[in-house]
Amino acid sequence: MADQDFNDRMLSLGLARVSEAAALASGRWIGRGDEKAADQAAVTAMREQLNKLDIAGTVVIGEGERDEAPMLYIGEEVGTGNGPEVDIALDPLEGTTLTAKDMPNALTVIAMGQRGSMLHAPDVYMEKLAIGPGFKPGTVTMDMSPSERVSALAAAKGVSTHDITVCVLERERHEDMIEALRSTDCAVRLITDGDVAGIIHCAEPRTGIDMYMGSGGAPEGVLAAAALRCMGGQMFAKLLFRNDDERDRATKAGVTNFDRVYTRDDLVSDDVIFAATGVTDGSVVQGIQREPGYFTTETVLMRSKTGSVRRMIYRNPIDRSPTGARA
Ligand code: FBP
Repeated sequence: MADQDFNDRMLSLGLARVSEAAALASGRWIGRGDEKAADQAAVTAMREQLNKLDIAGTVVIGEGERDEAPMLYIGEEVGTGNGPEVDIALDPLEGTTLTAKDMPNALTVIAMGQRGSMLHAPDVYMEKLAIGPGFKPGTVTMDMSPSERVSALAAAKGVSTHDITVCVLERERHEDMIEALRSTDCAVRLITDGDVAGIIHCAEPRTGIDMYMGSGGAPEGVLAAAALRCMGGQMFAKLLFRNDDERDRATKAGVTNFDRVYTRDDLVSDDVIFAATGVTDGSVVQGIQREPGYFTTETVLMRSKTGSVRRMIYRNPIDRSPTGARA
């Protein structure tokens, strides 16, 4: 029912269950070299669990357009329909290749907010820049060059550029940027995939990462902004278009200004809840642990309203698993 409140406190546990189910389902595909099967398992389980929640949900960031994704497509209605109208951004398996190759930092990710709270980002690339909490607005900007950003952040932290670590997706398109970063003597943490985790790193001091920059998927950008809205931290983003088809996608998604620089709160403009469960071990959450008779997952569950960050360990008996997970 449309007039029900978005009771994020009550819904958050349900969201964690959705994220856990997707991780458990994709867990059996860790290291099996099959990205598609791992993703499909996560999608199916996530959808099944979402449909048990008492929400009138709409997927705004999902697996793709309706004609290319049979499940969890953009616009799909999920939930029982008996509950608040909410928008959902999800990536059932963020890091399909990481999962297939059993490499670190594969996650299942989902965010939920009131209707209209998240940018309907088209499936195009996005230039991203993020830092953790505690810095003045404007400490780093999209207008600065990579090396200017490092110097500005070092000055704001009161350290030398040598003590700054920047996380970047290892891609050919980032070679010049990486070279510019190296000229400042900062450290560059290269990741092969998974920029949602890459951006969350900035708000987790124990990861040692101070700043994230570079281009990746726009849908992942909205998910990362949802996490930072809960944890604190600044983020800036700009959609990137390679051709007219991508511009058409953006227009269809409601984008009118193709040059706009979005802030974190433009990407996610109201309170959200966010859950991510580890599939493979990572610096944000532990991956699925196997022990005789059980799978154990770790989920980080956050609410932007309170800034609360919970870590939940879920021990799931294998023979009762509804997801078909196996040892
Ligand atoms: P998958 O979930 O499809 O494996 O995507 C992982 C990812 O690394 C994202 O985290 C990132 O935003 C995007 O792919 C980068 O795209 P590309 O591989 O084309 O550079």
